Amino acid sequence: MEVVTAKSAGFCFGVIRAVDTVYELSSSEKRIYTYGPIIHNETVVDDLRSRGVGIVNSLEEIRCLDPADTVIVIRSHGVSEQIYDEIAGLGFEIVDTTCPFVKRIHDAVREASENGEEILILGSPEHPEVEGIMGWCHGPVQTLEDVESAKSYKPLTDRPVTLVSQTTFNHKKFEDIVEILISAEYNVNVMNTICNATLTRQNEAEELASRADVMIVIGGRHSSNTRKLYDICAARCEHTYFIETLDDLNLEVPKSVRLVGITAGASTPQNLIEEVQKEWKN
Ligand code: F3S
Repeated sequence: MEVVTAKSAGFCFGVIRAVDTVYELSSSEKRIYTYGPIIHNETVVDDLRSRGVGIVNSLEEIRCLDPADTVIVIRSHGVSEQIYDEIAGLGFEIVDTTCPFVKRIHDAVREASENGEEILILGSPEHPEVEGIMGWCHGPVQTLEDVESAKSYKPLTDRPVTLVSQTTFNHKKFEDIVEILISAEYNVNVMNTICNATLTRQNEAEELASRADVMIVIGGRHSSNTRKLYDICAARCEHTYFIETLDDLNLEVPKSVRLVGITAGASTPQNLIEEVQKEWKN
């Protein structure tokens, strides 16, 4: 039996950058809080907690903290302009680890909406990254999550529309939705803002899943990029499994397995990927 792990499996550049920053800050004298968990990975979050790094989940919780000597870390998903300004306005020091690929979207939607355009975001409206992007739009904005809703999409105004996407959006869905909007002859300026790390990860997962007998996708249950990877693999490989920890590895797999493929979401640490790999090789 052959076990192949996708080269792009695991932490992406933006997550490494955010997590490393918090580890560095954890050894400072200041009190460190991240706005939401820095990563969808409980092992890393627990380790940071043991080093004194706290988590706040709302502005209300931040208001209960003393701004003196307290640092609020913005994670790689980013936040809305209003949340950013409120935290700064309360006197807290902010360390912003918003991924540069996400920041680029904030700048693009702000500029386009200030120029009078309407914004359309492809992504999940409840995802923190999308909430953040919406919060940098200075005018009408809508979100679209799937091909079905694209068919009934109507702009809110008669202005040109700038379309961006969540950085981890499924690239196939992106193309299908854009095609629907273009054939409906809407005046849409399309910006493909799916990040390269996501694109590579999805393409590799798709290629591996199409030749694997069993496909393992490792990542946090709350990680939307891992769920999307799972969907891509499940469409190509009947025996695709989503696992979060080694304990989930008790799988009912077919007997005649020749190739096992492994991939992992952007928040999955290398050591977990290696442990899963080892288990399969044994
Ligand atoms: Fe950034 Fe892409 Fe990762 S947007 S946080 S490099 S998935």
